[in-house]
Amino acid sequence: MKITLVRGDITEQHADAIVNAANSSLLGGGGVDGAIHRKGGPDILAECRALRASSYGRGLPTGQAVATTAGRLNARWVIHTVGPVHSRDEDRSELLASCHREALRVADELGARTVAFPAISTGVYRWPVEDAARIAVETVRATKTSVEEVRFVLFDDPAYEAFAEHAR
Ligand code: APR
Repeated sequence: MKITLVRGDITEQHADAIVNAANSSLLGGGGVDGAIHRKGGPDILAECRALRASSYGRGLPTGQAVATTAGRLNARWVIHTVGPVHSRDEDRSELLASCHREALRVADELGARTVAFPAISTGVYRWPVEDAARIAVETVRATKTSVEEVRFVLFDDPAYEAFAEHAR
């Protein structure tokens, strides 16, 4: 599997699966979650609501991942995952690693070969982007998967530089 980096808007990407930095409610939010729902259209939310009405009645737990349609996005699926909120008192690195591992596991179940990731937890959830980049790249590298390309799509220069540092 190769790791590529793109500086841009993940909702403009063409990939088999686009990963969403969601929250446990799966009912949308700001940041990349808001952009994906806005651009992807109502079908994504409809499937998220169906998931909440069935297997995820209490919401999607942090570190887990689930797929829906990608709606109008240039992708077949959106893989929603819930990143941990950064904490100074508690090391939640394993949960952030789990987001990447679980998203790849779901991608494998779907047969997705190209998967675009945002910098999970580095916005509203305040994870320092340097550390998040290290965890993301190390986890993806260490995960056995049939995915052929993992593309990190970074929305600003600091995030791009942080990922470039680790993906070399
Ligand atoms: N494309 C790519 N990356 C984006 C985009 C976009 N369109 N919009 C924002 N980002 C980047 C942010 O700059 C940040 O680096 O995604 C990263 C993750 O930021 P958030 O979207 O805030 O996600 P996160 O920190 O995981 O917090 C999740 O925020 O949006 C809400 O509903 C979401 O409650 C959840 C929380």
